[in-house]
Parts: sequence; structure tokens; C-alpha cells
Amino acid sequence: MLPPAQTRSRSFEMADIEGPVLIDPWDKDGLALDRLDPLPALPFRYPDGWMRPIELRILYTLARRSAGPVLEVGSWIGRSSSAIAAGLRDGVCDPKPVYDIIDFGPCSAAEWQQRFGQKLNIEMGGGHVAAAVLHPGGSMAVLIDNMRRNDLLGHVTSIIRGDVLETPLGRRYGMIFCDAVHGEVEAKRTMPAIAALAAERALFVFDDVTTEAFADTICSYLKPVRRFLLSGKDTYGKLLVVEHHAPAAPAKPAGSAPRPVPSLETARQRRAAAGAIWRDTFAAHGIERSVILASTFRSGSTYVSSLLAANGLPGLSHERFADAWRHIVDPPGEAFGAFLNTALSDAHGGCFATKLMWPHLARLAEATGHGRDEAADLGALFRPARWIQVCRADKVAQAVSFWRAKMTGRWQVYATEAEPEPEYDFLAIRNALHEIELGDRLWDDFFARAGIEPLRVTYEALVADLPGGLSELLSALGLPAEVPAERVGLRRQRDSYSKALQERFLGDFYRV
Ligand SMILES: C[S@@+](CC[C@H](N)C(=O)[O-])C[C@H]1O[C@@H](n2cnc3c(N)ncnc32)[C@H](O)[C@@H]1O
Repeated sequence: MLPPAQTRSRSFEMADIEGPVLIDPWDKDGLALDRLDPLPALPFRYPDGWMRPIELRILYTLARRSAGPVLEVGSWIGRSSSAIAAGLRDGVCDPKPVYDIIDFGPCSAAEWQQRFGQKLNIEMGGGHVAAAVLHPGGSMAVLIDNMRRNDLLGHVTSIIRGDVLETPLGRRYGMIFCDAVHGEVEAKRTMPAIAALAAERALFVFDDVTTEAFADTICSYLKPVRRFLLSGKDTYGKLLVVEHHAPAAPAKPAGSAPRPVPSLETARQRRAAAGAIWRDTFAAHGIERSVILASTFRSGSTYVSSLLAANGLPGLSHERFADAWRHIVDPPGEAFGAFLNTALSDAHGGCFATKLMWPHLARLAEATGHGRDEAADLGALFRPARWIQVCRADKVAQAVSFWRAKMTGRWQVYATEAEPEPEYDFLAIRNALHEIELGDRLWDDFFARAGIEPLRVTYEALVADLPGGLSELLSALGLPAEVPAERVGLRRQRDSYSKALQERFLGDFYRV
């Protein structure tokens, strides 16, 4: 257990601050002001702003030791940014850390008033504020000029004009300087988003934290290991430095633990009882053969089955064995018969057509007493059968789609309204990815053990050449293939949010 975070405050005098280079700036009492690096001079002076030299010196010292990525929220025209960029320039990291900057970057008096709820005051900041806002391109253009003329622009990775609350930042940062939280209301509004941008271990620096109580408020959104509040003789412009450590939660296992293996005798009894019910029900419906579309969730199987339905092979979009798990009982009896009866009810022409998703086959196997080794027996239950296996090559896209459908309950969509956007959850998407990858692997295992050679359809390949791919599929199934119907009523659910989730997930997985 880490000790509770404690604030160490000290007064300082500029004269106290001299010290060696690249030593640990922390001591047991907090940030050691006598160990800060000297602030380097720049070709042009540090831009106008509100930060005092001691604060710039702290930023410079911490940035110089940071491995990044570094984020600055609230750069204004670059006073603090210059200290951070110079610290990164003079640090020992190779390659140089990423440094992203975000600011509202107001460009007009009207925008200023809209953002801050007050008129742009020509006198504010000795006149530099209005000058920057009214400069062509607004304060961001001034920031870029200021960084460029001090030869620091090359140490900035990206400059984003916007609200940090509305900007999807794809990185997790090792150092975050925030000059955009100045009171309880702003803290409540902004801190959850700022905290969520931190890497597992991160150093936060906040400007304008003027009381211990406000430091407590800010820390309540973080996982502080230690913290330091700079207290000067004046009360304005204080800096809070927080070391934050939020260990990642261990990955939740996908799904539940395996159930115990039934005894040989129990499995034999299930096979006998379920087999008899199965044969009777198939006979009662006059079923002589089956077509089975085998897949995992969100592989494009609904699209493929809709195409087949439009071309004379209906029935494959129904997951008729989704409730098989309810029938893992000893011995299988009437309820299992009724379940099977419903599953077969719309079979026609002696042909039973169904979609069978991976977990549903596994539950059906349990209900009918078939272990992995009895795959051939299980497959034979469907009489002579044509198996079609639909896979999606882009597993991350499939995992995102699967997770999103689980979160929203929207599995197939025919209307045109926008898709809901559930909040990104790295571990849940990773679990979804495991689940579908294992599903495909277990289908291959089942086919190999059962001696079945399915007709394999890759969703992306089919979509890339729909007329050709569809004709080929229909001919393989013995259906007319000359002028296939290519239109189905489904709407593609993939949107820019899916793309953003995939990118974010891949970026995060890069660092796992
Ligand atoms: C006090 S100024 C920053 C001063 C600057 N750090 C310096 O050294 O001069 C605060 C800045 O935060 C920006 N800001 C406030 N809230 C923000 C938000 N939610 N997203 C992006 N920028 C924000 C404002 O546009 C403003 O430029």
C-alpha cells in the first residue's frame, strides 16, 4: 500500500534556486526547489503570460526529465509551452518525447465572449490578450509564431485548437500540464476528462491552485502518490505537482469459467436421450438435409444470409440454437423436444436452414452430450448437410462491432438513425476480440474433427467483388447464379466512431 499522498509546501526566494543538472528534483519533503535546473534563455524572450519564472523553471525541469508523451492543456500564446518545449529539447530522451498542445485558441472578440462569458477587455494582460485574439489566426497563430522564433516549434508534435472535452486524443500521457482548471466548477467539468488522459504513471502539473482545499479537489480525481504545492509570498499563480499512479485493472476473463466435464455415463445418457428426440423431430418435419451457416458474431453473416435469402435460400439468418444453453439438463426431455420443434418449424422442402454461431454450437453439443471428440456424431445429427463458414478478416473491426452491439443491443439495423456511441472500454474490446478469434479457431477444430469441408466465405473478399463472389457462392450451393440479386435491406452499422474506436484500441494495444 502506498502512503496517503501528502502535500509539502514551502516558501521560496528566487535567490535560493541554484543547483546541479538532471538530478532527481524530488526529496522527502516534495519538490526540491534548490535542485531545479536553471531556466535557459531563449533567442527572443519568453512570451507574455501569467506564469512566474519559478513556475516556468519547474515546468522546464520536469519536462526535461519526462519520457512523455507530454500534453499541455491551455497553452495560450506559449509562455508555459516554451518552458516545456525547451525542457524536452534539453532532455536526455532519444527520440524526443511527443508533445501535444491543446487550447481554445480564440480568434475573435465574439468567440472570446462565447467561450469565457465576458467581453474581450482591451486592457487585460497589459493589452497582450486582445492583441492575440484579434491577430489574424487568433491566439494559436501567435503561439505558433512565438514557438517558431524561439526555435522550439520542432519540439511540438501537434497543436490542436479546440476544447479538451470535445477532442478525441488518441494517446495516454506521462506528463500533463493543465492551465485550464481554475476553480471548483471547472474542476468538476474538466478533471474527469483530464484524468482519463493519463498513462498508468503520470506527472500532473496544474497552474493556479491557490489553496490546499483546491489541491484536494483536484487530487480527488487522480490517484496521487505524492504531491507538492508551490506557495509563494503572493497568493496568485501557484503550481500543484502531482505524481499519479493508477495501476491497470487485471484483464477480466472473457465469459465464465468452464463447467465441469460430465461423467462418461452422464454424457452417454444425454446422447441417447437427445439423439432419440432429435431423430423423431427431424422425421416429424420431413427433414432430409440441412444448410448451416457457421460463424462468429459480427462477421458479416447476416449480410451473407440476407444475400442468400434474396437468391432463393431463406432461413439462414435465424440463430435457432441461441437458447441451447437452457437445455443442458439431465436427462433431455420434453422441453428439449419443444425447443427443437420450434427450431425446425419453418423448414420447407425437406431442408432445414439455420445460422449457427460459435457459442451456440458448443452449448448444443453440451445439451446433446457431445464432447470435442464426438464432433463427427454431432455434425451427423443434421443429416447430410452443407456447411458454409463465414469469417471476417479484420478481427479488430469485428471485435469493435461485437462489443458495440453488446453495449447497445443493436445487432441488425434497417433504419437510418445514427448509431449510439458507447464509451470506449479497452478491456471489454479486448475480451470481445479473444471471444471471436477463439470462436473461429473452434469452428476450424470442429470441422477438422468432424471431417467436414465447409464452403468458406470471407466477408471482405465477398464485398470486394460482390457479383463474382456471389455467383461463385450460389453455384457452389447449386442455386441459379446468372443474375444474382445483390441488394438487401440491411444498413451498414460501421461509422466514423467505429473507425476511431479501432484506431484507439490498436494504439492502446501497442502499449500493452
Ligand atoms: C491562463 S491561460 C494559459 C496560460 C499559459 N499556460 C501561459 O503560460 O501563458 C488558460 C488557457 O486555457 C485555455 N482553456 C481553458 N479551458 C480549456 C479547455 N476546456 N480546452 C482547451 N483549452 C482551454 C484557454 O483558451 C486559455 O488560453
